[in-house]
Amino acid sequence: MKTHLSLPTRRSDALPDHVDNDVRTPAVLVEQLVEAFTDPGETVLDPFAGFGTTLTVAERLGRVAYGVEVDADRATFVRERIADPENLVHGDVFDLDAAFPPADCCLTSPPYIGWAEGVDPFRNYDPDSETTYEDYLNDIVRAFEHVAGWMAADATLVVDIANLKTEDGVVTLAWDVGKCLAETDAFDFRGEIVVTWDGRESDGRGGDDSNGAYGYGYDHSYCLVYDVEGGAR
Ligand SMILES: C[S@@+](CC[C@H](N)C(=O)[O-])C[C@H]1O[C@@H](n2cnc3c(N)ncnc32)[C@H](O)[C@@H]1O
Repeated sequence: MKTHLSLPTRRSDALPDHVDNDVRTPAVLVEQLVEAFTDPGETVLDPFAGFGTTLTVAERLGRVAYGVEVDADRATFVRERIADPENLVHGDVFDLDAAFPPADCCLTSPPYIGWAEGVDPFRNYDPDSETTYEDYLNDIVRAFEHVAGWMAADATLVVDIANLKTEDGVVTLAWDVGKCLAETDAFDFRGEIVVTWDGRESDGRGGDDSNGAYGYGYDHSYCLVYDVEGGAR
């Protein structure tokens, strides 16, 4: 696969009215990744399923999709849109002993820290939760090491993530997550795909026109690609 892609920023399917923070990965990226890293009939896992873009796109392309989502409303939303609602587990990735078949590819975008720093993204930004950037990176490693146990030995992990430009400066989230995962025994870093996003959308995260098209202060994001070592089979 190319190491750079240029794609339109578009999240076209409707979300429920009360949703004011569209965290979805644009389907056009998921399509390219599913096609590049899996064959029809293979299994695709998204342990941070969100509104289910990975699962719905993977199913549409003839793959078998599984996922986990901690937020009850989002889990319900996804279950209503996939062929087998039981393939989406409502639960916490850290606690779960998922009975999924070993995944050929894990394609996911974890919750980001930075916008609501101080509260824990893995606890759905619960205002009563607390975390630091360092805790967050440790949790990322813990979560993905756990997920590696649900994957086939020769599987691929693709993490969709961006650096964040804030009023206080840049959070080098993509690079820090990339390094932390590369240093584990579970994953070998294969390389990154830089995705440049054309056009802009107003989803409440982007700010003015000087900010990026993707909504995190930049007009590009990264897909970090790893070989899974020591998977489940
Ligand atoms: C960046 S969003 C994923 C968006 C998704 N790619 C899509 O297109 O809809 C990250 C998701 O991870 C979920 N999440 C956060 N902590 C979790 C946990 N501990 N276990 C499972 N899911 C979690 C959040 O609720 C959020 O929906």
